[in-house]
Parts: sequence; structure tokens; C-alpha cells
Amino acid sequence: MPKVTIVGAGQTGATTAHWLAERELADLVLVDIVEGMPQGKALDLSQAMPIVESDVRVVGSNDYEATAGSDIIVITAGLPRKPGMSRDDLLEANRAIVQAAVEATLAESPQAILIVLTNPLDAMAYLAMKVGGLPRERVIGQAGILDSARMRSFVALELGVSVQNVYCYVLGGHGDDMVPLVRHSNVAGVPLDRMLSSARLEAIVERTRKGGGEIVGLLKTGSAFYAPSAALAQMVEAILRDRHLVVPASVYLEGEYGQRGIFFGVPVQLGASGLEKVIEYELNDSEREALKASAGRVRETIDALKL
Ligand code: NAI
Ligand code: 2OP
Repeated sequence: MPKVTIVGAGQTGATTAHWLAERELADLVLVDIVEGMPQGKALDLSQAMPIVESDVRVVGSNDYEATAGSDIIVITAGLPRKPGMSRDDLLEANRAIVQAAVEATLAESPQAILIVLTNPLDAMAYLAMKVGGLPRERVIGQAGILDSARMRSFVALELGVSVQNVYCYVLGGHGDDMVPLVRHSNVAGVPLDRMLSSARLEAIVERTRKGGGEIVGLLKTGSAFYAPSAALAQMVEAILRDRHLVVPASVYLEGEYGQRGIFFGVPVQLGASGLEKVIEYELNDSEREALKASAGRVRETIDALKL
């Protein structure tokens, strides 16, 4: 059985464990600094396994020995946003947490692939790659599956069609200037702009961009976790099952989309080796400009790390 470690057993970490355990994909280790909490959640989750008929082991720990030999490390440790905060406001608080998590997990699992969730996402994924001294294939940030799923859910609701018929692609940095690619999105093959008025489409694009903030405003004590963790589980599954799945995710760019040296949300193919390739869309001028602006913001945040 493959082994997946999830660092941070809070809202997103524990819910990722839940989705993964039910799919019987891997033995799971939950790590957190709060004493007893990862052990308690792991015990509870493992007691659900007879009911959902899944033969995976779920272990909780406050240290990293239990994570040895993991195939994938998912990093969710860190502070979430409170109302009024931007993701970038989390940079200083979360960088030390992510750095410690990367160093400690790689010491136990030097061959593991890292999937990063902690915000500000693109900068934290960059930090993980640099601190770990890893090739770009082995560090992937989660953003685009979530952002695209938000847009897909809004379109499906608006049109009264199955979410399975809606394909949307949100690229760029995981911030409010992310880039929903309307021209590449469609409902069962019909372009979105043939299904929705420009006013409705603009409203959906705007709600997608602010989708994380909308949930922070409602929850007040934290940020979204069901959809983010479902996205993480999809990425873990794509790698463990070597699916060659194409999804939007944040990866280190080496010239693709005109960008170099930053993590940025683009369509990628995921398989057993992690990042298999970056897929390049043909973009028009306004799409290119929007991505350039978003990349500029991500670069500023990454530069602020002073690595
Ligand atoms: P949470 O507060 O529920 O859980 C975070 C956990 O990390 C806590 O249990 C905390 O004790 C733990 N932690 C803190 N320092 C640690 C350390 N040094 N070692 C191990 N564990 C440590 O927060 P939640 O909702 O799970 O969010 C986690 C992070 O993910 C936040 O930064 C949030 O902004 C980000 N996020 C990113 C998303 C994305 O799409 N990229 C989506 C949702 C959340
Ligand atoms: C979100 O988009 C908090 O980044 C997270 O919900």
C-alpha cells in the first residue's frame, strides 16, 4: 500500500485524509503540532474504515518518525485567513511552518513528491522546492483545481446542468487576480459565451476570483476546506494511480507562458513522477495580459521571501 503523509491535521488536512481514506488509496499519516489532535482524528477516522469498507491504516503523530517512507507529502500546515486578510498577509507566519515541514518530512522520505496547499500558495510552493532542493517535477501547488471547480459549480447552478458537463479553466496565481479563461471553458462542448450573457459571465468570473474570500467572510474563523481538500485528493490519486491527468495546478515555470522562475497556475499533466508536463494553451492578447499581471503579483510575493 502506498503511504501519504499530511502535515497539518486541521480543517483541510483532516478532510483530505477523509477523502483519501474512503478511496482506499494509501496508508495515511496525519502530523500536527497540537498534542493529541492528529492522534485523535486518526483514531476516529480509522474507526470509520470498517463502515466504509476501506483497508487503510490511519496514524496520527506529533513527530515525523511515523512519516518515514512516504510516497507523497501533502503540506497544509499553517495559518488560514481571517476576514479582511489577503492570502499574502500569511507569508511571514507561514514560511517558517512550511520550511520546517519540508525539512522534517524530506529527512524521513527523501524520494517523496510534495503537494503544497498552505497560503500564499504560489510562494509557499516555491519555498518548498528551494528548501527541499527538489527538481520541479516533485513539487506541485494546489490552486487551479479548486478555483476551476468553484467556477464550474457556479456555471452548473446558473444553467441547471450537471457539474459533469461543465469544463472551466482558471489559471494564474492563487489570488484575487487569478485568470478564469472563459474562452476555453464550455458546457458539453458549447463555449460558455454562447450559453450565458456577458453580464452573467462577468458576475461568475468575479465570484470565482473572490470565491475564497466569500467563504472566509461566512465562516469568520477560517477558510474553505471541503473543496480544497477534494482537490488535494484528486492530485494524490492522479499521482498514485499514474493517471496522466491534466488539471490546472501551480508549478515552477521554466519559460512556459512567458514566465520563468516562479510557481504559477497552468494546465499540467500529473502522473507517477509528479509533474509530467506543462500544457500550453493558445492565448489571445487580453488573456496573455491578464496572466502577465497575475504573474507580476506572484513574483512580488516570491521576491518578498528573499531566498
Ligand atoms: P487550520 O488552521 O484548520 O489547520 C492548519 C493546521 O496546521 C493546524 O491544525 C495547526 O496546528 C497546524 N500547524 C501549524 N504549525 C504547524 C507545524 N509547524 N507543524 C505541523 N502542523 C502545524 O487551517 P486550514 O483551513 O487547514 O488551512 C491550512 C492552510 O491552507 C492555510 O494557510 C490556508 O490559507 C491554506 N489553504 C489553501 C488553499 C489553496 O487552495 N491553496 C485552500 C484552503 C486553505
Ligand atoms: C481558498 O481559496 C483559502 O486559498 C483558500 O479558499
